Amino acid sequence: MVWSRTNQLIAAAAEGLGARAEPLGREHTDYFMRLSLGERRAIVSKTRSPFLTQVAQGLANNKHLSRELLRARGLPCAEGVLVDESGDIHGPAVRELLARHGRLVVKPNWGNRGVGVATDVRDLATLARARDRARGLDLDEEVLVEPFIAGTNLRVAVIGGQAVAAAEVVRPKLQVGRSAEAQVAALNGDPRRGTWSAPSLCPMDQIEAEEDLAGHLEVYGLELEAPIPAGREVEITGEELEVIDRTDEVHPEWLAVAASACDLLGVDVGGVDLRGPMAAFAGPPASAAGAALLLEVNVVPALHLHALPTQGRARPVFAAFVAYCLQLPGAPPPCAVVGV
Ligand SMILES: Nc1ncnc2c1ncn2[C@@H]1O[C@H](COP(=O)(O)OP(=O)(O)O)[C@@H](O)[C@H]1O
Ligand SMILES: [Mg+2]
Repeated sequence: MVWSRTNQLIAAAAEGLGARAEPLGREHTDYFMRLSLGERRAIVSKTRSPFLTQVAQGLANNKHLSRELLRARGLPCAEGVLVDESGDIHGPAVRELLARHGRLVVKPNWGNRGVGVATDVRDLATLARARDRARGLDLDEEVLVEPFIAGTNLRVAVIGGQAVAAAEVVRPKLQVGRSAEAQVAALNGDPRRGTWSAPSLCPMDQIEAEEDLAGHLEVYGLELEAPIPAGREVEITGEELEVIDRTDEVHPEWLAVAASACDLLGVDVGGVDLRGPMAAFAGPPASAAGAALLLEVNVVPALHLHALPTQGRARPVFAAFVAYCLQLPGAPPPCAVVGV
């Protein structure tokens, strides 16, 4: 009986604070854990606090709707067109987006972990295949089509309403001329990648080529064994190549954007995904001129990104999480109220 990486990190942080972390019930499940310290008790579900509401979760999981609400409150959010369950991508809105931007991103509206996200969509045929894949993976068969945003990924961790850490997440990009299969095998040789079946404190995970990557490649008309052709930029959107702590480099106003986004959606413990050039995050949002934007708020943030970065300082996000859930002295008060 071994906890998942996240639960191992929660349990270790609890121990560091003198608190207990134990399984709930007799069968081992990673889904729930009881934290206790003296009279204080909290049941958490992964990194969901006991205060999080179903309303906030559902709202944040709907990327298009939550962005619309956050944009109305003045936050710099990525634009996008929602393709409903009819799957019609031939309307003027999508065509206009493609004509204006040249390169689009297609993703399930209710997705996570980067699964089904295609970032190199430049023609209608690829768009149709990306739509089919994203739609098949989406809860409501809804697909979001949005402009490709140049730059990198910034993840901001918010705990109890406070932005506590920021990390740059670099995705693996497949090189031209070699097969995806060979490149994934090389990436998997990295000792910093662990496996789900034997959870450990590795910062990254093994990439399972057969599971997701084959379907991802099909969107571009490619196969696992064939060399990546020139002109194709295939990013493995669900995986990491490096995770670089940027907490001290991100401008406080961007951290405030992340905290506000969580606050408005009622997400007390969240991971905010932003995208743009790293230099844009060093200055205030107003000077980024729309080049850096908010993509989504994750309700179950991968807090290990900040505790186990591959470069830079580890941040005590799990201690902050445990202190918040148990409401230890000095921790922020419960703040999961949907306020948009
Ligand atoms: N508009 C975009 N421009 C460029 N890359 C993007 C864009 N949207 C998503 N991506 C890539 O796909 C990843 C996953 O996208 P995201 O919107 O966070 O969906 P998910 O809910 O699956 O995490 C991002 O971290 C980034 O690497
Ligand atoms: Mg994301």
